[in-house]
Amino acid sequence: MSEIAFFEGPILAIETSCDETSASILTGRTILSSIVSSQVDLHAKWGGVVPEAAARAHVEAIVPVLMETYEAAGVDPSEIRGVAVTNRPGLVGALEVGVSAAKAVAFAQGVPLVGVHHLEGHLLSVFAKWGDFDHPPTFPHLALIVSGGHTELVEVVSPRAARLVGHTIDDAAGEAFDKSARLLGLGYPGGRALQDQAERGDAKRYPLPRAQTARPYDFSFSGLKTAVLRLVESERDRLNVHDAAAAVQEAIVEALVVKTLRAADELGIGTLTLVGGVAANRALRERLERECFRRGWSFHTPPLDLCTDNAAMIGLVGSARLLAGQRDEFDLEVFSNAELPSLEVR
Ligand code: KG4
Ligand code: ZN
Repeated sequence: MSEIAFFEGPILAIETSCDETSASILTGRTILSSIVSSQVDLHAKWGGVVPEAAARAHVEAIVPVLMETYEAAGVDPSEIRGVAVTNRPGLVGALEVGVSAAKAVAFAQGVPLVGVHHLEGHLLSVFAKWGDFDHPPTFPHLALIVSGGHTELVEVVSPRAARLVGHTIDDAAGEAFDKSARLLGLGYPGGRALQDQAERGDAKRYPLPRAQTARPYDFSFSGLKTAVLRLVESERDRLNVHDAAAAVQEAIVEALVVKTLRAADELGIGTLTLVGGVAANRALRERLERECFRRGWSFHTPPLDLCTDNAAMIGLVGSARLLAGQRDEFDLEVFSNAELPSLEVR
């Protein structure tokens, strides 16, 4: 068993890759403050994130969010010993706002700067100590990362090495939730709304397809979206939204759980983590936890506010890298696309 070590700090972390402006202060793996300012209301009227509007909203929010996070942590800016920031992947204009702010703070305080891959943040989110939550996994573990842009199954061998085991070949799980919710008239972003509707629904009333993939641990959700469209068109006014939502949730959760368990079983890994925005889904959390419990496996998932996008998880990666003596220069760039690195904590 290899452990992961974190920098005493305190450090400041910033995340602006999509539609949340977030800043956090951490010492070691303890989160002192985590502030998230969401742009959901702004983008809801367009039914999705508008990149230009997102960047402008980050510009407006970033300084107030920074001030709030220092205050909530009871830490003075002069006490910061490092700055971590998401620099990839994400909306370029949005990322630029966070990276510019991070460079400014690091320069002003004379402390090191580290750029962090957003997905590595989700991966390490389970290591946080946050309020009552303190349940870090051991290595190796199998991580299911499910968010609006990603669906990946990753074998995290050690703090230094991760291996991609499977991924979606089309839509991400969060996209499947959001697109289905939109077709059912539930607004944007639809994951949470769909979960709420599904509470009182009968998942068996409308049978939806389960996709086959060529590789056993890959996922495919685009067929589900088409099936939901057909269902909505054929049922029209007769459609029971609760039952349809329950059927969609069941189809997504089942695909995720079945493949994750199969991979864990075949790879012989008895420690599972569930991270990313879709990890906030109650049905998914409960089902995976129950299945792990039945098998005597250990299951780890962060509290809901560390599942959806947040800077605290970025701080955990930055903290581990800073302790390892890594840092980036002030010419740190942003990237819209970037492969998941093999955990850069070297
Ligand atoms: O990780 P995240 O906050 O942002 C990305 O990096 O994409 O994930 C956002 C996604 C959205 O698709 C949203 O609908 C989904 O997570 N989500 C949920 C729930 N809460 C958020 N999906 C299903 N059930 C939920 N309770
Ligand atoms: Zn995310």
